[in-house]
Amino acid sequence: MRKKNEYELKPATSKNTNIKKAKDWESQLPTTPSRTSPRWVSPVKPKDPPVDLSKLERIEFNGTTFYLLYSRGTVSPLSESEFETLCADIADRTTVLVPIVLDECYIIIDGEHRLRAAKKAGLKQVPVQVRPGLTEQEKWQMAEDLNLHRRHLTPAQIQEMITENREKLPEMALKLRQEGNSLRQIGETLGVSHQQVQNLITAVNNLTPELPEQVKGKDGKKYPTKKPVIQVNTTKELQRAITACQAAGAENLPNRSIELKRVERIARETERNRLRQQEACDFKSGQVELLLGDFNIRGQEIQDNSIDLFFTDPPYDQASLILWEKLGAFANRVLKPGGLFVSYSGCLYLNQIYPMLDKHLSYLWTAAINHSGAKKKIYPVGMNQAWKPILIYYKQPKDIYWPTIPDMVSGGESKEHHDWEQSVGEALHYITAFCPRNGVLLDPMMGSGTSLIAGLQSGLGLKCIGIEMDKATFIKTEQRINTFLAEKNDSAIDK
Ligand SMILES: C[S@@+](CC[C@H](N)C(=O)[O-])C[C@H]1O[C@@H](n2cnc3c(N)ncnc32)[C@H](O)[C@@H]1O
Repeated sequence: MRKKNEYELKPATSKNTNIKKAKDWESQLPTTPSRTSPRWVSPVKPKDPPVDLSKLERIEFNGTTFYLLYSRGTVSPLSESEFETLCADIADRTTVLVPIVLDECYIIIDGEHRLRAAKKAGLKQVPVQVRPGLTEQEKWQMAEDLNLHRRHLTPAQIQEMITENREKLPEMALKLRQEGNSLRQIGETLGVSHQQVQNLITAVNNLTPELPEQVKGKDGKKYPTKKPVIQVNTTKELQRAITACQAAGAENLPNRSIELKRVERIARETERNRLRQQEACDFKSGQVELLLGDFNIRGQEIQDNSIDLFFTDPPYDQASLILWEKLGAFANRVLKPGGLFVSYSGCLYLNQIYPMLDKHLSYLWTAAINHSGAKKKIYPVGMNQAWKPILIYYKQPKDIYWPTIPDMVSGGESKEHHDWEQSVGEALHYITAFCPRNGVLLDPMMGSGTSLIAGLQSGLGLKCIGIEMDKATFIKTEQRINTFLAEKNDSAIDK
């Protein structure tokens, strides 16, 4: 009989909105000999700012520093009364309507006055458009154009300005359109109706047979090129957007309006491609052992009857179904008698997964992760998925050595380390319940190593073994584990 754990179960804490996607897997990678020293992965080189930021004037807003450059020289300062009107307007609406426009170094291209007014009005958030990949010339030009047309002017002043710049309006309308603005937005900016904007654009298109920046579409026709635009609403999102833009590189972003999550996905893929060029080999540090390669091969190095808890998370797509039978057989060989197999799974192919596992292990239960946040639409079955199964099997004999635990928990969503990253809280719930003190935990498809982090966090003195076949994922996981161990060490020293 196993000893019951001498600790209390920790309830899963954060919210869960985990979403997974099917993916083709890389072929197995060659492995190299084991190393024990920690290896740090060099961070993505941040984009060099065009100037020394420390020399620029700045605006601190809700913990974020914005720099002033392009608005200098292109924006004439508002008079005190104009600024007060703007502040009163923003305070009245408790929001800023027109986004602040920034480059990827937090330098304001447009919206300095709006940001100052928002700060004065005590707003906590402002809408921001991040415009990565613009040349210096484009940024200065944009600052000038937008200032000319977005300044907080009285209707009379707008009318006067439009009259003065009447001959420039069609070009301005076209430029704003190419930047991804709607007809209504452009109309608001230029002080004309959206139908008039359409007429202006048609006029300039007819007048200008060869527009300066064009791309050829699939249909062979030419379309105006755009630049990437990322629209965010909070300073936290802004920080994510800038980090992701810098990691992805503006040249890897589509030239149109893109969602923050997509920029982050592109950033992760760019990072993975970079990591794939690096050398990688097995890793060992203290109680952690990471093996690079396919579990079907590297798993052969794991001794029979040596694992207390087999905790994993295979890909959920149809092509990966074949893995389940192999996982079942592998778990049956390496688990200690009475040891548990716990695995995340999708719902779509459960009818095929159960029989494969049944061949090698004994069924105990199907627990659930509650997706407390955004739900995922599963189109082939017309379902909005709100939960995810956790399949629990055991290797004979049956031994219920843990105290009764809830079979539904909610985890938090994080995709910082892996596109299919799970929450540490969920893993901790099962690991603290099912792993005996000083036991051995194995995740043969560890991804970003969430289960191993949970194993280390459990305070049970576990030996944690992980296997991963994707080199980029492996390197990032090694880095994550190293960081975790270093922080743990630091806090131990501080005490
Ligand atoms: C769903 S992800 C795991 C995510 C993980 N739970 C996390 O929180 O990051 C599955 C992982 O299994 C890896 N994988 C797929 N087939 C594998 C195999 N045959 N051997 C080892 N790793 C494999 C993939 O590269 C991927 O990183």
